[in-house]
Amino acid sequence: MTARKDSPVRIRGFQLADMVDLAKAASQGFLEMCGRHDFVTNRAVVPYLTGSVDPADDWFIVADYEDARAVGSLVGQAGNFWMGASASEADNRNCVSLVWASVHPDYWGKGIGGRLIEAFEEKARKGKFTTEIVRTYFAQTFYEMYGFTRVETFKALALEIVGRGVAPPPKLEIRPLLLDDLPPLANHMTENAYGELLVSFFHERKLNAFGPERGETIIGRLDGSIAGVAFGLTSSEYPDLLTLTYLFAREPEFALELLQGLVYLGSLDGRRWVGVNLPLQDIDESELMNLGWKEAQLPTFATLYELRKDL
Ligand SMILES: CC(C)(COP(=O)(O)OP(=O)(O)OC[C@H]1O[C@@H](n2cnc3c(N)ncnc32)[C@H](O)[C@@H]1OP(=O)(O)O)[C@@H](O)C(=O)NCCC(=O)NCCS
Repeated sequence: MTARKDSPVRIRGFQLADMVDLAKAASQGFLEMCGRHDFVTNRAVVPYLTGSVDPADDWFIVADYEDARAVGSLVGQAGNFWMGASASEADNRNCVSLVWASVHPDYWGKGIGGRLIEAFEEKARKGKFTTEIVRTYFAQTFYEMYGFTRVETFKALALEIVGRGVAPPPKLEIRPLLLDDLPPLANHMTENAYGELLVSFFHERKLNAFGPERGETIIGRLDGSIAGVAFGLTSSEYPDLLTLTYLFAREPEFALELLQGLVYLGSLDGRRWVGVNLPLQDIDESELMNLGWKEAQLPTFATLYELRKDL
């Protein structure tokens, strides 16, 4: 890593003594990283202790500022971090991912974030990578300042339940879904679609003997027959937030009713927010906006931007 004589910022690799300072920088500066220091330990401490990281794969960069140590860090990875196994071969060969960058709030605006990016890019160019990619909830402007361009927007909407009356959906009869409700659903969908439903139900929520949390999954019926199901997942950081993960509606008109059903049962459970990621099949953004949904601004649940830069 480089050290510039004229700059108070010094860029270097990770040392064990940095852990607590970096945890502070992340939790005091970084809404979406609050309480997630396992990321620092997984990416830095464990490889450091086991010596398992080849320097060529070591994308954990630390910044000191004047006499202060470890005021910021950047974690990156070769390949497309977000697409994982589904990234194309070319993407993995050419691309580096800037997974997260954070600077302690006392040191914001001194160019430390910029120097971390610069060091990351220097290393990437040496490795003959040609594209850099980042996903961020709140720091789009920061990355644009350093030459990134937005290529994707993953919009997230949230409805705050507190402070509003929430009624059950007008047509459908809604109740929490039981395990025995699952097999009959197979009669209304293709085998693949039923497979996806099962994965969403059992895998995403890591179902244990007690089943999903109360009110996380619902079934809707009309005149005794199944109209569809909606599954939500409780955020691990915010137990008051229930996020829609799966929706199956037998008719397009049932989709919004099922979502309303999830909101209604969520309100009975005392949740504060329900969130959805767009696009949603059979539900328009404008319909949701008219019902009081807003663009989500919650830590770990917000509109996500993907930005890229040619190196
Ligand atoms: C984003 C961050 C790393 C920037 O670090 P920094 O050392 O202050 O960056 P620099 O000094 O190089 O650049 C500062 C510029 O970025 C902009 N900026 C900083 N954080 C920003 C944010 N969250 N959104 C938009 N712009 C931001 C500032 O406006 C500033 O521009 P200005 O000087 O014209 O006002 C730091 O603010 C931080 O740790 N934020 C919290 C964590 C985070 O959001 N990380 C990025 C997501 S992966």
